[in-house]
Amino acid sequence: MTDCLKPKRQGGWGLIAMLALLVVAGGAIGAAAGSKPEPEPAYPDMWNPDWLLRDWWDLDPLAPERRKRMARHQHFMDHGVPDEYRGERNPFSVSPEVVREGRVLYAAHCQNCHGRVGMGDGDAALAVNPSPALLAFLIQTPLGVDEYLMWSVSEGGALFGSDMPAYKDRLSIAEIWKIIAYMRAGFPRAE
Ligand code: HEC
Repeated sequence: MTDCLKPKRQGGWGLIAMLALLVVAGGAIGAAAGSKPEPEPAYPDMWNPDWLLRDWWDLDPLAPERRKRMARHQHFMDHGVPDEYRGERNPFSVSPEVVREGRVLYAAHCQNCHGRVGMGDGDAALAVNPSPALLAFLIQTPLGVDEYLMWSVSEGGALFGSDMPAYKDRLSIAEIWKIIAYMRAGFPRAE
């Protein structure tokens, strides 16, 4: 019997020693915590997790530069163009003469930002905010209708806080249409 009890008694002492250690350690931790209060941990709200609260269709989570670019598209989708541009169609056909004139005008007024073939890589591209639109792509999308282009070029980016200049007082309406015809023709080089 004594042989059986012996290890048990030893185990009991070990347990007491461990408890004593825990009390001392606990006191030390408590003292440390008392001197420097830990900030409240921010537990996720399980009923309203982040991904549920975020409105994916809202422009807010976007970087400010991207928001400016998207704002024009969103504005058009929500409201269309202002009345004075509604239903506008290019009166010029994409003829060689019109495209030639459009190329000269584009090179003089747009290329510096939008680049030679509308890839947003002109010399001043890095200096403007947001970066210049990729007109080569825009012109091929359902967004790139005549009234949208005429509105964007005429009014510029004032409404959206972008660096896109307004051309309604710098170019005639006919000149803007010729630039649009040139873009629709695919930004061809001079023959
Ligand atoms: C000083 C630089 C600059 C010049 C010069 C410039 N643009 Fe822009 N343009 C921008 C920037 C930046 C944007 C993007 C922000 C925005 O949509 O307002 C833009 C946007 C546009 C858009 C709308 C694109 C879209 O995705 O909806 C069109 C169309 C456009 N420009 C055409 C032109 C044409 C045509 C010319 C020349 C007559 C021109 N731009 C001259 C900077 C410029």
